[in-house]
Amino acid sequence: MTRLTTCADAEAVAVRAAADIARALEQVCAQRGAAHIALSGGTTPKRTYELLAEQPVDWAGVHLWFADERCVGPNDADSNYRLASETLLARAEIPPERVHRMRGELGPEEGARRYALELSLKAPASAEKMALLDLVVLGIGPDGHVASLFPGAATLDAGEHALCLGVHDSPKPPPERITLSLAVLRAAAHCLLLATGAGKSDAIHAMLADPSRHVPASLLRRERLSVMVDDAASPNSKRLG
Ligand code: 6PG
Repeated sequence: MTRLTTCADAEAVAVRAAADIARALEQVCAQRGAAHIALSGGTTPKRTYELLAEQPVDWAGVHLWFADERCVGPNDADSNYRLASETLLARAEIPPERVHRMRGELGPEEGARRYALELSLKAPASAEKMALLDLVVLGIGPDGHVASLFPGAATLDAGEHALCLGVHDSPKPPPERITLSLAVLRAAAHCLLLATGAGKSDAIHAMLADPSRHVPASLLRRERLSVMVDDAASPNSKRLG
């Protein structure tokens, strides 16, 4: 069953999410000696990453992955790596060899191929013989996309063994991207999806309804999913009048 948490505002979501992520990382590191977390880009998680950097986490045991990346260089304003670098990595001392950057500058296909290889070599394997990420932090688009998996896209049909995919026609600019596959997101031990603002309320309502290729977030594994929203993005906000 998906866990839905509603907070008063975006700052409260960031405070709660940072604390929950830190606790999860500590628990996994205590159990297995290392934790593998993947981050999304966009604007929603920025404050969460800033607060996460202040949490008492033993970062030496953390592997940082990415859920998706735009096909730009790491210093580009559009880069998800740059977002993480300026918020989390600037404070959290994660060993460089444990920061697994998607090489967007290589383009969608070569970048995805390289990342799939790195995942297969450096991420633990799940029971489904799939790269096991302990936690994936996701945002959601107004259209219900997560990472760079967009409504009705062929990437949703990449199959259960696909790890990482190239995207050439993202409706959200820039058009060329690299994304984890739906199979990797569904194999993850847990996904934490963050949404704030009235513009996300319909997408949150849709993702909690029946699974549909038209709402990629609805295809996440529900029993391994936590959704954290502010009042404005709550699926009931409009319905409360
Ligand atoms: C990206 C993100 C994307 C994002 C959503 C929400 O690279 O664009 O990974 O999936 O999470 O589009 O974006 P906002 O948080 O900016 O609304």
